[in-house]
This record gives sequence, structure tokens and C-alpha cells, in this order.
Amino acid sequence: MTTVTLIPGDGIGPEITEAVKAIFTAAQVPITWEEENAGQTTFDSMGELIPQSLIDSLERNRIALKGPITTPVGKGFKSINVQLRQKFDLYSNVRPAKTTAGVKTRFDNVNLVLFRENTEGLYAGLEMYDERLGISDSIARVTVTGCHKIVRAAFAYADKNKKKVTVAHKANILKSAGRLMLEAAADVSKEFPNVVWEDKIIDNMCMQLVSKPEQFEVIVTTNLFGDILSDLCAGLVGGLGVVSGANIGDDMAIFEAVHGSAPDIAGQGLANPTALLRSGIMMLQHMGMQAEADRIEDALEKTLLDKNCCTRDLGGTASTSEFAQHIISNL
Ligand code: NAI
Ligand code: MG
Repeated sequence: MTTVTLIPGDGIGPEITEAVKAIFTAAQVPITWEEENAGQTTFDSMGELIPQSLIDSLERNRIALKGPITTPVGKGFKSINVQLRQKFDLYSNVRPAKTTAGVKTRFDNVNLVLFRENTEGLYAGLEMYDERLGISDSIARVTVTGCHKIVRAAFAYADKNKKKVTVAHKANILKSAGRLMLEAAADVSKEFPNVVWEDKIIDNMCMQLVSKPEQFEVIVTTNLFGDILSDLCAGLVGGLGVVSGANIGDDMAIFEAVHGSAPDIAGQGLANPTALLRSGIMMLQHMGMQAEADRIEDALEKTLLDKNCCTRDLGGTASTSEFAQHIISNL
């Protein structure tokens, strides 16, 4: 039995976590959960946003499945997601977007993986506000090392699983921050002669993605662009309820959906657990538990074929737990 840290999170987090736990138990996945939370909930009960017990658990287990955490808009605490990604140098945010049979979308064969740089850029936390002058300065810190790390992760993935990498950037305006990733790609590409690569300016990239997404295989980009593009890509394949993700570093990985805590539907049994379940499947693959991953994925895909078994976002009427039960009966 391997121990995995489980962070339920806020909003819909506990509901989708329960669903995934039930499916993993039914599939007899050989892992033990070590539950630790973070966010507003732990702040209210323990006076801490990221309790030391969570940090200890992550350091011990080096692997986690995480629900979404609410981050206040404007004034308030710094994002816990950003803090965890930076603290443990989880520099690759890997977000696949693939069309699934049964899930209605405008496109038939989207199959891409987005690599979002996860620790730098405008999320570096270098923001200064001069209240007297009413001026805010935000520094997008991008490093040569950081660009090489994320670009190498994207090329290595393409070398194994795909053929083409697209670098999305704004190097025409951001003369240095934008250029570094392009230079990293030119450098790293020499190590991967079988991978072809191209670059696209981010505004054109958005237009291309919503009109002809089938042309993309692996996309690599800086933090903010990656954040925005991954929600866009979710929209291409059925919405935020179905797309998974992973925060991966050299010696730790935290798996979580692309979506947030969805306060508009929290506590109502309306949340689709597919995104977190798929993140859990990515985790099993990462841990080498391919048979368990395949078994759960097959049951999920079978369930998604019948709209009546699905949650509201996919046109069905099932609740979060009913949907999970359908997956369990398809195992
Ligand atoms: P959101 O992703 O929570 O929700 C956007 C829309 O998608 C909502 O209409 C929501 O109902 C729907 N949705 C999201 N997940 C769904 C699911 N599993 N099933 C069905 N529908 C789903 O984005 P929003 O509303 O902008 O952010 C809410 C909070 O989440 C904010 O505090 C934000 O900071 C936080 N957040 C946290 C993330 C994380 O912990 N990784 C990532 C993104 C946002
Ligand atoms: Mg986001």
C-alpha cells in the first residue's frame, strides 16, 4: 500500500473527493489516503491556511490528489495553489484536453496536452502597489532555467507520445520575458531531433485553438497564458467538469483538476467528479499502476456514453454521487 496525501479543498472539493475515494475503493486501488486540508476551512478551524501537518504529509509522501481551493479576489491571502507549486518547485502543470465519446462538443478529434510553466511569470508574486500614486507594478519574472525546465518537459513528452510542440508566447511585445521561452525551445529542440516545433503568438494561438484545435499536439507556454489557455481548451472538450491536470516537479507531484471550487454549485450535488477522477487516473499512471488506471478509465468512458448517467453539465440529471455509483457499477 502506498500512502497518498488527499487534500479535499473548498467548495465542490469535498463532494468530488468523496466520489473519487468511493471509485478508488471499489476498484481496489492499493493506496492509503492521508487526509490533510488547506484553505479557508483550515483557517477558520485551525487559524492556518496551510497547516504544517499538510506540509509534513507532502514531504513524506511526495504525491497528492488535491481538490480546488478558494482564493479571495483582490485583498486577502496569497493563493495556496501558487504557494504549494512554488514551495515544492512543481514547475510543470500538465493539462490534457481530449474529446471523449458521448461528451457533446463542437469538435470531434481534439487531442492535445498543455504544458503550463507553474512557478514563474506574473504569478511570481512580485506586485507593488503605490497607494499614493495609484500605480501598481507587477513583475513577470521569467528565468532561463525555468524556461528550459518546462520546455524540456514538453519536448520529452512529445518525443514519447506525440510529434509536434507549439510554443505560445508574446515575444513581439514582451521582448525579454517572451523571448526566453523561444530561445529555450530552440536550444532544447536539439536534444529531440524527432520532435518538430513551431511558435505562435498568443493572440493568434487563441483564434487557432477555437477554430482548428485538431492541429495542436503539445503546447508549452508561460504561467498566465497557460492558465487562460487551459480553461479555453476545457471548453473545446466538454467543459471544466471533465479536464484533469498535474503539478509535477522532479521529486513530487500534486494532481488536481483545472477547475476551481465552483461556489455557484457547491453543496448541491451538481459537480462533475470526472475532472478530479481523471487527475486521479493520471496519478495512478504516474505511480506505475497502469492496470488500475485503465480499469477506472474504461468504466468512466463507458459511463460517459450514457448521458442519463451523467451530471448536469454534461446534459444529464445524475448527482455527483449517483454518477460515481454508475462508474462503480461499470468497473
Ligand atoms: P471555477 O472553475 O470554480 O468555476 C467556473 C465555472 O465552471 C462555474 O460555473 C462552475 O460551476 C463550473 N464548474 C467548475 N468545475 C465544475 C465541475 N467539476 N462540475 C461542474 N461544473 C463545474 O472558476 P471560478 O468560479 O472562477 O473560481 C472559483 C474559485 O476557485 C476562486 O476562488 C478561484 O480562485 C478558485 N480556483 C482554484 C483553483 C485550484 O484550486 N486549483 C483553480 C481555479 C480557480
Ligand atoms: Mg485556472
